[in-house]
Amino acid sequence: MIKVLFVCLGNICRSPMAEAMFRDLLKKENLTNKITVDSAATSSWHIGSPPHKGTLAILNKYNISSGGLVGRQLTKEDFEKFDYIIGMDESNIKNISAITGYPNHPKIIRLLDLTDHNKDVPDPYYTGDFQETYDLVLEGCQAFSPNGTG
Ligand code: 4NP
Repeated sequence: MIKVLFVCLGNICRSPMAEAMFRDLLKKENLTNKITVDSAATSSWHIGSPPHKGTLAILNKYNISSGGLVGRQLTKEDFEKFDYIIGMDESNIKNISAITGYPNHPKIIRLLDLTDHNKDVPDPYYTGDFQETYDLVLEGCQAFSPNGTG
C-alpha cells in the first residue's frame, strides 16, 4: 500500500478537499487497493470538525463524496506512517517539517510543485474562492496520480 497524506493549516478547507478528490480519482482508476489517502492540519484549531461548508459545497457540485472527513492534527508519527506528505503551501511545508522533525525530506512535497505551476494553493478560508481551490487541487491530484491524467 502507498499511503498519501494531504496537509493544510486547518484541515477543514484545502486538505479534506484534496483527500476527497484524490480518493474519488483513485476509485475511477481502480487503485483504491493500492493507494490510501488521509488528511491532517498543522494546527489544532479544528480537531474533530467537519469540512468548511465551502468545501462541502464544491465536493457536492462535482458529485464527490465527503463521507468520513473529520479534522485532525498532524503528528510526528505520521512521518513514518505515510509515504507522501503533501502540503498546500510553503507555510504548510515549513510547519510539516517542524512537526515531523524532517526538514527538506523528499517525501514532503508542495502539491503544485507536481505541476508546471510554481505556487501555493491559495487558502479559500481567506479568499472565499473554493472554485479556484478545486481547480488547482484537481491539477495537483491529476499530476500525482499514477497514470498522470486522472
Ligand atoms: P485550510 O484553511 O488550511 O485550507 O483548512 C483554514 C481553515 C481554518 C483557518 C485557517 C485556514 N482558521 O484560521 O481557523
